[in-house]
Amino acid sequence: MARAMAFLWTCALILVAAGVVVAENIGVNWGVMSSHPLHPSIVVRLLKDNGVKKVKLFDSDSWTVGYFSGTGIEVTLGIPNEQLQNLADDHRAAKDWVKENLTSHLHDGGVNIKYVAVGNEPFLGSYNGSFTKQTFPALKNIQKALNDAGVGNKIKATIPLNADVYQSGSNKPSDGVFRDDIEDLMTQIVRYYNENGCPFTVNIYPFLSLYLNSNFPQDFAFFNGGHPINDKNVQYDNVFDANYDTLVRALKKVGVPDLKIIVGEVGWPTDGHKTATKDNAKKFYDGLFKKLASNKGTPLRPGKMEVYLFGLFDEDMKSIEPGYFERHWGIFYFDGKPKFPMDFSGGGNDKALVAAKGVQYLPNQWCVYEKDAMDQEVLPNQMSWACSHADCSCLQEGASCYNLDNTRRISYAFNSYYQTNDQDVEACKFEGLAKIVTVDPSTQNCKFPIQIVSGGEKRLSFAYIAIAALVSLMSLFILV
Ligand SMILES: *[C@@H]1O[C@H](CO)[C@@H](O)[C@H](O)[C@H]1NC(C)=O
Ligand SMILES: *[C@@H]1O[C@H](CO)[C@@H](O)[C@H](O)[C@H]1NC(C)=O
Repeated sequence: MARAMAFLWTCALILVAAGVVVAENIGVNWGVMSSHPLHPSIVVRLLKDNGVKKVKLFDSDSWTVGYFSGTGIEVTLGIPNEQLQNLADDHRAAKDWVKENLTSHLHDGGVNIKYVAVGNEPFLGSYNGSFTKQTFPALKNIQKALNDAGVGNKIKATIPLNADVYQSGSNKPSDGVFRDDIEDLMTQIVRYYNENGCPFTVNIYPFLSLYLNSNFPQDFAFFNGGHPINDKNVQYDNVFDANYDTLVRALKKVGVPDLKIIVGEVGWPTDGHKTATKDNAKKFYDGLFKKLASNKGTPLRPGKMEVYLFGLFDEDMKSIEPGYFERHWGIFYFDGKPKFPMDFSGGGNDKALVAAKGVQYLPNQWCVYEKDAMDQEVLPNQMSWACSHADCSCLQEGASCYNLDNTRRISYAFNSYYQTNDQDVEACKFEGLAKIVTVDPSTQNCKFPIQIVSGGEKRLSFAYIAIAALVSLMSLFILV
């Protein structure tokens, strides 16, 4: 007995020392809108090293999904909005989708798939209704195909929605209702969810409350108890709870008060805007993890919550239409280096996250502006060309490189373009205004990145190797 206890203690100590105890109810979103995505094998290892047990994808690319085989990591597959129409029109398309992208991974030692995310925020106000008609039929076809394949009990379809699908005229949760233009549709969808055991998935962004309204009380965006609002004798001291309970009310009003809710995305960006800083992000995550660990839930939904952080990595190809911060949502940088220490368990014992292993970088060289070059007239065009084809989000007002002097700003833009193009010499020409250097031009606050060898390209090179092998085999035959 004593020996068994000692053994258990040793195990517990090892677990604590490794610092990889992530609460079961926390997952991460892995998006790949990157010029140089990390190889899936590196990402899967990083998730394991950090004890992350749930991941949500925005696609269902088989090659990527295959890397989760045998890991036990719970996977949510994604279907992009553009594919919804096809799946809505034809139930056979949904059957094919499930067969090719889902059941093929369910063999022994395969992938632990839990949800299918049908579309991504398809009812977002700024889409002007482009995906409104096809989403619900696509959801039903996918769930039906799951049922027909005999896995519908275990794997559920759900539509990740932006929190803009509900609203409250008074800004208080108790007045929560679904948005006017989609109220009937939302009512049908949540009733369908209720009958079929599907969860409601909502993305909640306190950062955007602050970003979109400069008068928004800072404290209310975090979890430190400032600026409480009183809603019929219920106190709300943070916008996350208030937002979540607005949904709880909206669900209650249409007759499904107990529908399971998953927070599909929540997080805080670290660059590209004055409130998008590492300090604020850390403050937000500290508060969030503590809240999740307490299992207190919200005033209207006490208990355990399930959330997926957004996101895993910075993504340099994301649209900057919502704001320059869009490319800086990662808890890791683009290359899998952690940004700041965290404690997923909510205990406040910060530990450095484990960085990605086996990442290959391009050589230590940068492209910079040659200010003594002859023809300076072409400069403005060259700089805007660079920025429109690469990532200059760090140069924007309030961002990490905003305070660079003019020469360095231009260098930053040129370098970004050069790195995005795999340090191709041709990508550091800029009509004679640029040169390649081997001394790091970074400043204390502003890092001039070196790109990594893209994990997406490995796929290509594997294909090339296969073709090359075939070609050489064939030439052998010809020779013989
Ligand atoms: C499987 O998923 C991929 C990636 O999203 C998609 O391109 C493909 O069309 C899907 N297969 C079917 C049969 O729908
Ligand atoms: C939605 O409408 C606005 C204003 O009419 C327009 O600027 C925007 O491009 C439209 N968006 C889409 C996705 O169609």
